[in-house]
Amino acid sequence: MENNPVVTQMRQLIQLIAKHNHAYYVMDQPSIEDSEYDQLFHQLKALEQQYPDLVQADSPVNKVGGKPLAKFETITHTVPMLSLGNVFNQEELFAFARRIEERLPNQKIQYDVELKFDGLAISLWYENGVLTRGVTRGDGETGEVITQNVKTIRNLPKVLSSDKVAVPRLLEVRGEVLMPKAGFERLNAENEAKGEKTFANPRNAAAGSLRQLDPNIAASRPLAFYAYGIAQCEPNHGLSSMSASLEWLTNFGFAVGERHFICDSIQEVQEKYQQINQERPNLAVEIDGMVIKVDDLQQQQKLGFLSREPRWATAYKFPAVAALTTVENIDWQVGRTGTLTPVARLNPVAVGGVTVSNVTLHNIGEIHRLDVRIGDTVSVYRSGDVIPKVEKVWLEFRPDDVVEVHLPENCPVCSSPVVMPEGEALARCSGGLYCSAQRIEAIRHFVSRKAMDIEGLGDRWVESLLHLDLLKDVADIYHLHEHREQLLTIEKMGEKSVQNLLDAIENSKKTTLAAFIYALGIRGVGETTARMLANTFQTFDAIRHADLEALKKTPDVGGITAEWIVDFFQASHNLEVIDRLLAAGIHWDAPIAPTRQPLNGESWVITGTLATMGRDDATQMLQALGARVSGSVSSKTKCVVAGEKAGSKLEKAEKLGIPVLDEQAFLALMADYGQA
Ligand code: IVH
Repeated sequence: MENNPVVTQMRQLIQLIAKHNHAYYVMDQPSIEDSEYDQLFHQLKALEQQYPDLVQADSPVNKVGGKPLAKFETITHTVPMLSLGNVFNQEELFAFARRIEERLPNQKIQYDVELKFDGLAISLWYENGVLTRGVTRGDGETGEVITQNVKTIRNLPKVLSSDKVAVPRLLEVRGEVLMPKAGFERLNAENEAKGEKTFANPRNAAAGSLRQLDPNIAASRPLAFYAYGIAQCEPNHGLSSMSASLEWLTNFGFAVGERHFICDSIQEVQEKYQQINQERPNLAVEIDGMVIKVDDLQQQQKLGFLSREPRWATAYKFPAVAALTTVENIDWQVGRTGTLTPVARLNPVAVGGVTVSNVTLHNIGEIHRLDVRIGDTVSVYRSGDVIPKVEKVWLEFRPDDVVEVHLPENCPVCSSPVVMPEGEALARCSGGLYCSAQRIEAIRHFVSRKAMDIEGLGDRWVESLLHLDLLKDVADIYHLHEHREQLLTIEKMGEKSVQNLLDAIENSKKTTLAAFIYALGIRGVGETTARMLANTFQTFDAIRHADLEALKKTPDVGGITAEWIVDFFQASHNLEVIDRLLAAGIHWDAPIAPTRQPLNGESWVITGTLATMGRDDATQMLQALGARVSGSVSSKTKCVVAGEKAGSKLEKAEKLGIPVLDEQAFLALMADYGQA
């Protein structure tokens, strides 16, 4: 038996599927595309159907994938959370319908056609109308209790009420948690700007957010819940169809899919499937197919289950969309913070109805990983409609004259040296204020309220001034008065607005050392760090000439930031701009010596959601006063700052008799210490 080639193949498939299951369910890091996973699964299933006697005991075909992580409490689902069979084409869809018709002869069958959300299945318990439990699907039998995280999902009712229908004693709703595309893109953009990890797709982002032990993280993520079924309802809701039960759920405020159909025939189902495949890019959420369900609940019951899948429902997956094309060129784009991103210019190609001619290659590491070169033939893939990507290079088609791509030594925009600190994935232009690609953002930052505070110099002005070539760098701001005549030629800028602008610029010359340091836009140097630098070094010259060691000793400055500061002051064009700024008359009073660190050595804890600031800001304020900010409450904790929805940490503090400040009291204290 061991030598049977079918068994060998089955074993190989089982091992591969197990490996990818682990990556997907446990690590939240898919190792292959879903469509490829489906292919493996399908192949194994087909083999098992063909050779039922050879089915292996540990085959995943009859199991739902995934084991819960150990860190959350686990619970057994009263009603198991099963999976769905798949169909991939019209023929398989029609076969699904035939099997149903054979079991329900001479009955009219209506199909309920729903979006197949690509997120995480969860179960929600409402006892007497109150959300008491949220559990992940886990392996289908047992899931993780993530009630705290689930409660942070904004579009999900925490308490049920309706003026149309009675609230049941017990209601278990099933549905999917996901991150709508817009929120996903926003989150990734924010993380990128902060230099933090970005997520590969909305599904990973949702999974990563729900699995956080700290509910504040989930709360800060744009998650949404979409209901697709009722597992238990006591007393029974008395409804007779799937579509009616979804409609019933909306009475309580549950969101259901933005598209939803009742079809009288399987042909009509096929049409809806094609229609949604077209509309897919316009939907708010990511879907990977449609779910086709027999609408009538009695019919569903008669059809029952075959092993772990309902006979009355199936998933109709969308084909993964990929197309072949050639790489015409690879350019480097300079982003607003100076990051260099390689972009492949493609011979335009239609991928799932959208023409793709540019695709980001993310970073030089990705270029090496793919081994992509100019002239190569590549597969371009779009999962759903999120950003297309180069999936693979077809070495078989590689011409002799392909051109290898290297990280440029100089910025393609300003020719400053490109730097890529060790251990980092991203290369950057070191041009800083000098680089025109970074100029607009640098100017916006420079004039912003907490920097030089030049209120009159809004975006409209900046754009016009750049257009007139009057702003090559931020120092030019202080020479604008020499171009009064030209300023007056700008449309809608009269004598008065020009004078206001020049006055605002003049007034900004008196500033503080901290604001000036912050205004320079040194990477890693936010407001608090700037204040720390000013307080510690006292003079601009001391900061400018500080060495790594001295910088690292400054509170709030880590090793990496220290390097960025040194780099910044080593770049001659930065020094030129600074000299011109100082020559223009920017000045400040000497900072007051910071001997007072009133919270020195104290351990503080922040919990819950703060309404007026992020937790990072609050942490920075506390650190600036010498406190350590810790993640857990203990008898050593000096004080707890509790925002909205503070949970167990607040309870613990109260139990231990540790002082608790609400946000208002915290802000007042910070203001007293000159931090707010
Ligand atoms: S109904 C008996 N409806 O697909 C199972 N599932 O492969 C009934 N899914 O884990 C499931 N959208 O997370 C259903 N509109 C929808 C769905 C949906 C996504 C997921 C669900 C489940 C998986 C099954």
